[in-house]
Amino acid sequence: MTKIHVPVRDAYDVIIERNILKRCGEIISEVSKAETCAIITDDNVDKLYSETVSESLKSNGFKVVKYVFPHGEASKNAGTLTKIWSFLVQNDITRSDCLIALGGGVVGDITGFAGATFLRGIQYIQIPTSLLAQVDSSVGGKTAVDLPEGKNLVGAFKQPALVLCDPETLRTLPEKFLIDGMGEVVKYGMIADEKLFDLLLNCNLENVHEYFDTIIPICVAIKKNVVAEDELDTGLRMILNFGHTIGHAIEAYYHYETYTHGCAVSAGMCIMTKYCNTPEEYAKLKKCVENYHLPTDTDAPIMELVNLCGHDKKRAGQKLRWITCNPIGKAQIQTGTIPEFRAIFEREV
Ligand SMILES: NC(=O)c1ccc[n+]([C@@H]2O[C@H](COP(=O)([O-])OP(=O)(O)OC[C@H]3O[C@@H](n4cnc5c(N)ncnc54)[C@H](O)[C@@H]3O)[C@@H](O)[C@H]2O)c1
Repeated sequence: MTKIHVPVRDAYDVIIERNILKRCGEIISEVSKAETCAIITDDNVDKLYSETVSESLKSNGFKVVKYVFPHGEASKNAGTLTKIWSFLVQNDITRSDCLIALGGGVVGDITGFAGATFLRGIQYIQIPTSLLAQVDSSVGGKTAVDLPEGKNLVGAFKQPALVLCDPETLRTLPEKFLIDGMGEVVKYGMIADEKLFDLLLNCNLENVHEYFDTIIPICVAIKKNVVAEDELDTGLRMILNFGHTIGHAIEAYYHYETYTHGCAVSAGMCIMTKYCNTPEEYAKLKKCVENYHLPTDTDAPIMELVNLCGHDKKRAGQKLRWITCNPIGKAQIQTGTIPEFRAIFEREV
């Protein structure tokens, strides 16, 4: 068992332990005075894990209700949120009760936003079941829903009261999502931990499950350090966006159809490293992402991607911010004009 304390204004713990789902009720009873726990989950995760969580909650004295919505990003919208709010009213959930986000990042983000808004704020707990949710989205308190105009456009900062991570759940995660999450895991090695990077360089998609007890706590600790210093995303949190400036451009260039987010970030990290680091470091990163079947590049012309970066929502006025990791394990926040950003990719490598 690893416990990581997240020292933000509403501080909380992240506990990582195999099979923790079976005893989640006992741990939740230490942080929650709720009479009723409302589990919010998607249909895939419901079939696999709701019963275990529900039984453990009930045997620790909680009343349990459950709302299940169809899996996938398409559900992360105001329509689903309204249905969750109505469900909570219909089940007499009060401000002293608790929401349980059981699932991937979609479940976590929408449940967190319900927690931030229902009755002007109600406790919520994250039980992340996807790799991305365990290493990234369940920690840090960013909650949101999508609009037809774009992703995560309406949201709030609301920290969970507790995060319970069970690496065993990753064994049922479809490979596509495991690969996607590994893109973010490699990113943590690049931005903050050369030793993590070296570990990842020596593992692969087949054996990585055995190392999650080491990998997940390292990633959570890095995220915790960044979030503790920049809870509301005004500075240091930017380093979590390594690979994302080019990555977002790749997603947009292919109309969000060809590349999953983690794959686009992987290609984005490789492209930045190709132009900003030594050839040896670039070769190491390429080998590392290939271990997890992640892409190292894209067919999209680099200058077209650079043009798309001008539309990045992280832009500050006429300036663009981007992240470099030179050497591997150390991130730098760079600020410059769009022509200055473009110049990086004009040199021969
Ligand atoms: N809040 C943040 O800080 C933050 C950070 C990064 C990403 N996000 C958000 O996270 C979302 C993506 O998260 P995701 O990749 O987890 O997607 P997801 O929640 O859609 O989960 C991926 C798929 O895996 C299934 N699944 C989840 N756990 C499973 C398990 N253990 N076994 C079998 N199937 C399982 C889900 O049903 C779904 O089909 C996006 O909406 C993104 O915007 C939020």
